[in-house]
Amino acid sequence: MTAQTATPRSLPRPTQPALLPPVAREARYGFTTQQVHAGADTGPVGHGDRVAPIHVSAGFRFEDPDTAAARFSGEADGFVYSRIANPTTAALERRLAALEGGADALVVGSGQAAITTALLGLLQSGDHLLASDHLYEGSRGLFSENFARFGIEVDFVEDHADPAAWRRLLRPTTRALFAESLSNPRNEVLDVAAVAGVAHAHGVPLVVDNTLATPYLLRPLEHGADVVVHSASKFLSGHGTALGGVVVVGRGFDWGAHDDGGAPRFPQLSEPSAVLGGRSWADLHGERCYAEHARHHVAARFGPVLSPFNAFLVQQGVETLSLRMAQHCRSAALLAAWLERHPAVERVDHASLASSPSHQRARRYLPRGSGAVLAVTLRGGAPAARRFIGALELFSHMTHLGDVRSLVVHPASTTHAHRTEAERERAGVHPGTVRLSVGIEDVEDLQADLRRALDAA
Ligand SMILES: Cc1ncc(COP(=O)(O)O)c(C=O)c1O
Repeated sequence: MTAQTATPRSLPRPTQPALLPPVAREARYGFTTQQVHAGADTGPVGHGDRVAPIHVSAGFRFEDPDTAAARFSGEADGFVYSRIANPTTAALERRLAALEGGADALVVGSGQAAITTALLGLLQSGDHLLASDHLYEGSRGLFSENFARFGIEVDFVEDHADPAAWRRLLRPTTRALFAESLSNPRNEVLDVAAVAGVAHAHGVPLVVDNTLATPYLLRPLEHGADVVVHSASKFLSGHGTALGGVVVVGRGFDWGAHDDGGAPRFPQLSEPSAVLGGRSWADLHGERCYAEHARHHVAARFGPVLSPFNAFLVQQGVETLSLRMAQHCRSAALLAAWLERHPAVERVDHASLASSPSHQRARRYLPRGSGAVLAVTLRGGAPAARRFIGALELFSHMTHLGDVRSLVVHPASTTHAHRTEAERERAGVHPGTVRLSVGIEDVEDLQADLRRALDAA
């Protein structure tokens, strides 16, 4: 099959069996039950496997020409080509949709790909994106540099806890709001409901990056968000072995709405499309139009595919998510409280601490824990941070987070090195700041390692 035939004029639909197999559809089942059962049905090409197998097939045979035509026209369900859907990635999609409480999910090759796919499904040249100022640096660069080259404008909201600050920066052309539920690296908690309220009053969706919280700690769709994205490379996969990303779409957003001037807010969804033979994505798919368009028209075209092998690794990780998150959060909170009292430490940013500006929001949104990423600022500045990192034994020095192993990085000289000093200060990245991602090792061992490194610093 050529790439040309894999992106047909009409609509190839992957098989989408019921979102949850009976066992996980039962409301009485909890998160941990769902994380090992939801979406486990492998669909018509499965053979009763208990674990979704790795389908390493680029495409899928058609039984006959009529079936081929019907799959391309969208009249028949079935897999066509793995750039669009694959049984292994579809199983993961069903599971992640269930865990986030979403209607649809689309997995892609990385967190960056998930953010790009989610937002390019909403934005076009001339549109405006309003994003929190407290973001992963990769997202910031994507918005302010790459999206700018597509003619998409962006503003960053400095005080993301203040709904009025969001409202002030809205424009008639704003088509999406974007924020992290738990910010990287400062562990600030988003008031999801308040920001969703601002977005909806303007008729646009709120997209939330839920990477650091995971659905075990927070399900943004339940608080009013419309789309959730993740870097699955972090806590979802959990073992530092695979890159992946996911876009989860909620229910109830009116994708066909018009703006005050009577123009459709999302013409790519509500206007007739040549690809669909003159119908629109909204006509064909109703409430599911955004997800279908993102899959077939954005991801399938730009091509950021998640390999079935990586989907399998992410799925394996997800099956222990709640157990790992509980341990990550418990240890991170204990270490944050201890570090805050240590004489070599100037400041600790973790929402579990009463000193955190996010503490009240954490009590409301994160009853199971405030995540495992914290920013620790040492009194001795950059030289102390270098000595500290050099003396750590259990913490791996690398730019990653959400691994079972504990990790450390010095943001000012790495992730945030290209920012001005003033910007770094605003982001809470001081010369002496190190970012810790607390793993699942015994907390006593982690504390001993940190104590030794603080002595050296
Ligand atoms: C909050 C957040 N979102 C997105 C990403 C990007 O994910 P990936 O590295 O899988 O592309 C990261 C990476 O660190 C992140 O921390």
